[in-house]
Amino acid sequence: MSEADIERLCDFLADSKCTIALTGAGISAESGIPTFRGVQGLWEKYDVMEFAHIDAFRRNPAKVWGMLLEMDRHVVNARPNPGHVALAQLEAMGLLRLVVTQNIDNLHQTAGSREVVEFHGNSKRLRCLECGEMQPPESVDPENLPPRCACGGLIKPDVIFFGEAIPWAANVKAFEYAQRCDLILVVGTSAVVAPASEIPVVAKRAGARIVEVNPEETPLTGRVTDLMLRGSAGEILPRAVRMLMDRRH
Ligand code: APR
Repeated sequence: MSEADIERLCDFLADSKCTIALTGAGISAESGIPTFRGVQGLWEKYDVMEFAHIDAFRRNPAKVWGMLLEMDRHVVNARPNPGHVALAQLEAMGLLRLVVTQNIDNLHQTAGSREVVEFHGNSKRLRCLECGEMQPPESVDPENLPPRCACGGLIKPDVIFFGEAIPWAANVKAFEYAQRCDLILVVGTSAVVAPASEIPVVAKRAGARIVEVNPEETPLTGRVTDLMLRGSAGEILPRAVRMLMDRRH
């Protein structure tokens, strides 16, 4: 990661009239939450079709709840890392309009970001699959899975499983901003799961600059991405914020 690359990112941010960010599990890796793909990825341990598809959940809810509670053990103690904080600072500086996150860990909100689209929901909320009613946290008893609603329906975290639709309002807002933005920061996502992975492509077609922050290349790199910053979000984003703050003084 060269200083010149950070300078270029700061130039893009300073020139932009409407910047958004698309984030994935990689921005929460430095908070101790495992990513889904790559080394130690969750899907190396759990078969997606057995544990992350809505049909699997309906077929064997107690088994999927076992994986959900394991994931939750990482999330419940996780704190925002400098990458989350840097995005919240960019918003406070008037340089970031919106974060569209695929993450369900609430860490952007905890870090202080106010404009956040939860593209895949939020694991802090529970909902009954039958009546749709929100459920209190205490309705999940690890000794008595799966949790059921008073109506008899299955309770699941308010997160989007494979095979489920993206929440309508989140989808509309994310793609509206993809069309409107002139810069999108794609941070910590392997960009292989649609429709989230379409957001940078739509932005590019609408004339936006695409910046990736990721230690690895993705299908966007070299095709859609204008600036690839190879490294960790927790190191790169704070460096850009510090440089922008120095420029303002
Ligand atoms: N900083 C930035 N990026 C990182 C870091 C880091 N410190 N550590 C890892 N990464 C990158 C990895 O290189 C990878 O490209 O984060 C990305 C994580 O990719 P995934 O694990 O596939 O996570 P994500 O892209 O969010 O997955 C999308 O898939 O399983 C579904 O619903 C789930 O929301 C998830 C979606």
